[in-house]
Amino acid sequence: MGGVKVSVQDIILHRKSVRHYDPNYAIERKEILDSIELAAKSPNGNNIQSTRYLIIEDKELRAKVKPIAYHQEQVETSSYLILILGDYHAFHAENIQAIQEQALEKGYFTQETKTYLTNAAIGYYRDMSNQEYLKELVRDGSLAAMSLVLILNEKGYQTITMSGYDKAALFAELEIPRHYEDIMLLSVGRGIQEGHSTVRHDVEDITFIDRVTS
Ligand SMILES: Cc1cc2nc3c(=O)[nH]c(=O)nc-3n(C[C@H](O)[C@H](O)[C@H](O)COP(=O)(O)O)c2cc1C
Repeated sequence: MGGVKVSVQDIILHRKSVRHYDPNYAIERKEILDSIELAAKSPNGNNIQSTRYLIIEDKELRAKVKPIAYHQEQVETSSYLILILGDYHAFHAENIQAIQEQALEKGYFTQETKTYLTNAAIGYYRDMSNQEYLKELVRDGSLAAMSLVLILNEKGYQTITMSGYDKAALFAELEIPRHYEDIMLLSVGRGIQEGHSTVRHDVEDITFIDRVTS
């Protein structure tokens, strides 16, 4: 894929969720990995990097996931199906320390800054409720997912994000350990039928200035 360089604005204006894909269209795994590498540069809370990506390549596995995702065609026919996950282990002090240590070794900040950032992050997560942990994972995973959508669309592929699946059945089928949270599924490939257009609220209807007024 290549062609004319498009702006972020172009992608946002023209992207549509695509539900019908060419089942024989192959994308190199390397291209998906490169895209994920870029998406992982998205902002994330305290840089604890909780988002994970399960690339589901195997066609037989995809066929098994299809009924779990309520028979959505794209689960099987897109070139790749990616399950975006959040890892609860990312909140552990050892993870936070290791990441800040890596940045210190690279010379990105001083020992003093490293100690400050590490303690601040550990303190921030220490007494959180499960609901708050979940919110952290979903925030970070959703930002990364949006980046991935933009990157893949920039490459000329089509995508759809999906939450329409039975979580328990998906975790059982894919044997996903319990310390992961599902964020969403993402299909990517070459669309064979354009997605339908969708409306959006007027900006005046979704924006407040200084106070929420309705
Ligand atoms: C978190 C999330 C989950 C979604 N789940 C599904 C889904 O399971 N099946 C589906 O057909 N579309 C799904 N969509 C796509 C939305 O329906 C779509 O983004 C919305 O209608 C706007 O259309 P557009 O993406 O073409 O602009 C999902 C979108 C998001 C962001």
